[in-house]
Amino acid sequence: MTGYFVTATGTDIGKTYVSANLLHHWRREQRPVAALKPVMSGFDPNAIGASDAGQLLLAMDAPTDAGGLNLISPWRFAAPLSPDMAAAREGKTIPYDKLVATCRSVAGMMPEDGRLIIEGVGGVFVPIDDSHTVMDWMRDLGLPILLVAGSYLGTISHTLSALAAMKLHRLAPHAIIINESPLSPVPVAETIDVLQRHAPGQRILLLNRNASHADVAVLAGQL
Ligand SMILES: Nc1ncnc2c1ncn2[C@@H]1O[C@H](COP(=O)(O)OP(=O)(O)OP(=O)(O)O)[C@@H](O)[C@H]1O
Ligand SMILES: [Mg+2]
Repeated sequence: MTGYFVTATGTDIGKTYVSANLLHHWRREQRPVAALKPVMSGFDPNAIGASDAGQLLLAMDAPTDAGGLNLISPWRFAAPLSPDMAAAREGKTIPYDKLVATCRSVAGMMPEDGRLIIEGVGGVFVPIDDSHTVMDWMRDLGLPILLVAGSYLGTISHTLSALAAMKLHRLAPHAIIINESPLSPVPVAETIDVLQRHAPGQRILLLNRNASHADVAVLAGQL
């Protein structure tokens, strides 16, 4: 089994886009795939398909119904806030140990040639509860981490900050995926060059805007 934890330099950078495209690619390779978006805030039960979990289910050609949702996204909250805040609005807390155990259990059930994606929430330091953040979650799972970053003006500092924060927690991404931002004045190739100079030895990959199957295949082949 190869599984990846997909995080990002922040919210709305492209975790779901990258994850859904990779899942779709692996399905085209006839591989068994699984995805988890265990914690989801801003969830509208009347628009399941538009939700992160819905998009991951669609990419796996799985039904976007309550059963599918419960399997891949057990902790869903209505408020479009960080998960701890969104849970509190409903008088709940996210049971961190159960969250980690659920992810481990799904990873443990994957066949040898399978591919698993676990999508985090927002960036690397998003709180899960009063004492855990996504950083703890990534460390406790120990899966290879894909750090999705944009190519917008400002991404270099955001990406290096995320890398430095991860290093403090003895983590490093398996790969940084520069997911091309819309209408950026900064040439994406230059962004990658500069990042590479500041993060020598780090695998930095590109996914174009409106990526084609071929673009995604190249990305998947470099992972
Ligand atoms: N390479 C791309 N080409 C075209 N559209 C993209 C690309 N990357 C992301 N998008 C679009 O940008 C929006 C934000 O991306 P996405 O939902 O994947 O971000 P996210 O990091 O998963 O956000 P969240 O933190 O809410 O989970 C979505 O509408 C997505 O379809
Ligand atoms: Mg997402």
